[in-house]
Amino acid sequence: MDSIIHNIESYREAYLASVDDPEGFWANVAENFEWQKRWDKVLSWDFKDFDVKWFEGAQFNITANCLDRHVKHQPDKIALIWEPNDPEQEPIKYTYKELLAEVCKAANMLLEHGVQKGDRVCIYLPMIPQLAISMLATARIGAVHSVVFAGFSARALADRIDDAQCKLLITADIGMRGSKVINLKQIVDEAIENSTSIERVIVFNNILDFPAIRISNRDIDWQIAIAGKSDFCPFVLTEAEDMLFVLYTSGSTGKPKGVVHTCAGYMIYAWYTFMNAFQYKPDEVFWCTADIGWITGHSYIVYGPLLAGATTLMFEGVPNYPEYDRFWKVIDRHQVNIFYTAPTAIRALMAQGTDWVDNCRLDSLRVIGSVGEPINEEAWHWYNTHVGKEKCPLVDTWWQTETGGIMISPLAGITPNIPTFATLPLPGIQTVLLDKDGAEIEASNEEGLLCIKFPWPGMIRTTYGDHARCQQTYFSSFPGYYFTGDAARRDHNGNYRIIGRVDDVINVSGHRLGTAEIENAINEHPDIIESAVVGFPHAIKGQGIYAFVIPFTHDDIIDIEKSVGEIVSQLIGPIARPDKVQVVTGLPKTRSGKIMRRILRKIVEGELDSLGDTSTLLDPSVVQEIIDGKR
Ligand code: WT7
Repeated sequence: MDSIIHNIESYREAYLASVDDPEGFWANVAENFEWQKRWDKVLSWDFKDFDVKWFEGAQFNITANCLDRHVKHQPDKIALIWEPNDPEQEPIKYTYKELLAEVCKAANMLLEHGVQKGDRVCIYLPMIPQLAISMLATARIGAVHSVVFAGFSARALADRIDDAQCKLLITADIGMRGSKVINLKQIVDEAIENSTSIERVIVFNNILDFPAIRISNRDIDWQIAIAGKSDFCPFVLTEAEDMLFVLYTSGSTGKPKGVVHTCAGYMIYAWYTFMNAFQYKPDEVFWCTADIGWITGHSYIVYGPLLAGATTLMFEGVPNYPEYDRFWKVIDRHQVNIFYTAPTAIRALMAQGTDWVDNCRLDSLRVIGSVGEPINEEAWHWYNTHVGKEKCPLVDTWWQTETGGIMISPLAGITPNIPTFATLPLPGIQTVLLDKDGAEIEASNEEGLLCIKFPWPGMIRTTYGDHARCQQTYFSSFPGYYFTGDAARRDHNGNYRIIGRVDDVINVSGHRLGTAEIENAINEHPDIIESAVVGFPHAIKGQGIYAFVIPFTHDDIIDIEKSVGEIVSQLIGPIARPDKVQVVTGLPKTRSGKIMRRILRKIVEGELDSLGDTSTLLDPSVVQEIIDGKR
């Protein structure tokens, strides 16, 4: 059976086949790859005592499938186009042959610096080609990458390095984002001051005479370390369930967790979803605007497109630099065919009017996509009209860091689009809606909790170093089901509309942040006793962050509001900085002392009529005070 779906009938057939005989279905998809040893068993699984294994016994290397395989028949095809932050600077293009050579050199560099199979390599780089090259080099030698978004603070980086016990770190002197210059090396130095695991730091120099401090016996310049390295490096054979990477994401409690993806399942799923959701055609240029520091960039800038032998575009900059037409100019410049971005970017550009976009041609576009958060109707139509010119299918793709790849999405040009609906699950994805008691909802148009009742190859395997946490987070709410944390609605044709998170996770500009994580940062402020954080509707970001804080004294409220923002920026990163800070004298709590975030959410959303019964609170009077002081 062809793994690529060509019409709605073949979608239905594939879906039925995937439910009927999941092992046969995925084994057939696996035929599209190069294996040094084939698998013994397609799947073994248990959702009660969580354990999932796909393609056990298989041996291969993902980079052989991303690179070597394509070098054999299309060595000179462009694999990667890099568009720099500064539009005056020349883009860099790598053919498949050149990219393989660069990856081999970097792999030899890692080997020389003591990285062995299974070791964790932390990558803290801006959106430069060395980021993709470092990931692939790590995978080539069977090591595990942990990419940390270069907008995270020293503390956030330190926590992630420590949790995964990374041995080597790859960074750059500086990063460029629009008109901003970020001193990454300085952040790294602070982050690893007390690290017991990092032995070596490799620094890529963006500015050749950058006077960054080098710590001897620890730091080495990329350009020096890689000089003279062979462009041949045999790939290391990995087992199907060997770890490929760790990627940290926020949850409703505690510190971010390291989502673990493994070699075979992730590879198969990243490719399958890339090919089918976007209906990628040979010779097309694919552009995903995400940062590789997030899962979207892992799966749809690096792995999915390269596995498909596609041309993938990587952009260093931001949508509004030097002006608000940058995205559209990049599309025209590189004749992008498939464009994949986030609703927050669409809303931000929409707010600048239509001249920017209407002055560009955009006639190369064939498919446009959306990811990261629900896309509101207005943004959907603007994207469809002004960017897609009403001729490009718009794929609204729902998925998560934990799912590895797209789960619910139209297949471009095949599944009829319905504004704001992610539409249908991909073949192999057995979605269900549960009520709060865990019963499956059969009726249409009812809101339910989105769960998945059967494993798929790209799913999370564990949370790094803490399997119990994985079990608890995803498999304990409804035994026998993977719980996504999202609520959704399904129409009578089976189309899903995603409503949003039902846990204490806020989605700010498509980035996932835990309220507990932000509160912990605020509580480190020397003048704050306690805090509570909730999301509120934000015109551009989707959700904004609203923090309620109780200071020790109420003398200098203005200063407290400002410094609360600063401490969060410093401890987590600017993306987590609250948009609004309200000083209060108390928080709504139950008699047992639990903060009632539900009430706070209703207040910030202005839904004062549905606050519910507040008389049973520990101190009901705080509610009125909070309403009166609302920002
Ligand atoms: C959460 C996952 C992997 C995508 C990037 C974010 C929300 C994601 C959609 C969509 C509505 C969406 C969900 C999900 N989300 N895509 N198309 N429509 N909501 O990955 O950081 O792991 O966040 O993003 O709430 O649970 P993430």
